[in-house]
Amino acid sequence: MAKHNFHAIALLFMVAMSSIVARGNNIFVGAYYGSEGNNLPPPWKVVQLCEKYNIRRIRFNEPNLDILEQFRGTNIEVSFSVPGELIINQATNQTAVEEWFVKYVVPFIGEFTINYIVVGDKVIPGLDDNILPVMRSLQDLLNSRYLGQVKITTMVGLTALGVQSPPSSGAFDPNVLENMKGILKFLWGQGSPLMLSLYPYDAYAYTGYTNNISLGYATFTSQTEQNPPIRIDGNLYYKNVFDDMVDAFHAAIDKACAGDVAIAIGETGWPTEGNYGAGPSLALTYNLNFKNHITSGKGTPMKPNIYIEGFIRSLFNENEKPEGESQFYGMFHVDSTPIYPSVFD
Ligand SMILES: *[C@@H]1O[C@H](CO)[C@@H](O)[C@H](O)[C@H]1NC(C)=O
Ligand SMILES: *[C@@H]1O[C@H](CO)[C@@H](O)[C@H](O)[C@H]1NC(C)=O
Repeated sequence: MAKHNFHAIALLFMVAMSSIVARGNNIFVGAYYGSEGNNLPPPWKVVQLCEKYNIRRIRFNEPNLDILEQFRGTNIEVSFSVPGELIINQATNQTAVEEWFVKYVVPFIGEFTINYIVVGDKVIPGLDDNILPVMRSLQDLLNSRYLGQVKITTMVGLTALGVQSPPSSGAFDPNVLENMKGILKFLWGQGSPLMLSLYPYDAYAYTGYTNNISLGYATFTSQTEQNPPIRIDGNLYYKNVFDDMVDAFHAAIDKACAGDVAIAIGETGWPTEGNYGAGPSLALTYNLNFKNHITSGKGTPMKPNIYIEGFIRSLFNENEKPEGESQFYGMFHVDSTPIYPSVFD
């Protein structure tokens, strides 16, 4: 009997510990909250959903006062972007940056933690000349209010790279290189990461056949000690596409910047329908493995022993996105029930 009790207590203890560890993971991983849908729940329900499923971090694109108001007084950390349409004016107009800051940042100081202000969402190449001036203006405004913990960054995707493969040869597109050098120097000086938009799903679904990318390589299921590496790049051994892509950026950063700039994943995910390889069970597998991988502290073959922060796209399906799988990255139905078991609890 006593032995039984002991086992029961030990088991309870282990369950409690594992839930602490699992919950601890949520410090590094949040959800992207896309809003390109006409049937999405109201923001107050979204806050309830985050609290119910222990989603501790949220990132959305364009800030919206109705949404921001709902996060007042919560423990949920929030990130948002300066939208591309405002960046060109803001780059040469300090007043415009100040107005934006006074509207979207100042009212919420002390109300919730702002993790990142993302100056431009995949606008390099494109607005590359305009990003750094806006970053600097915002940083000055943050500094003037002693808000050094808010990090300024920008988000780029693979289109910012000229060379992606093999990872060690990763390099920025020569057309964006000079601007990226300035941006990276700024990020390094502030201790901010570069934010990436990365989709191993796309690598699998769109180039898997030509580039020999298996489902296991894309979803991290080839990532076991016993399995041989799938790609060997010099002395770097790869067992998942994610590391392969991230290290292409690490190589590009190392070539463009003398200092060490970390990487954060602004968006990644796996669709549940709409194209080849989409489905709820693969979405669960990918997202859970992604979360466990970046929070394991293992880093990547090129930069081992680091934690990586990330956001999983998306809370909900977005029916106003372009047709196809883009509409189906949601983890939750619009009635806030999970499409597949939540990876956050
Ligand atoms: C700067 O931006 C403000 C606010 O967006 C606008 O009213 C003003 O006309 C702009 N100034 C110039 C010189 O473009
Ligand atoms: C494709 O990758 C597998 C390992 O995942 C490897 O065994 C095979 O040789 C590769 N094929 C080609 C054509 O590279």
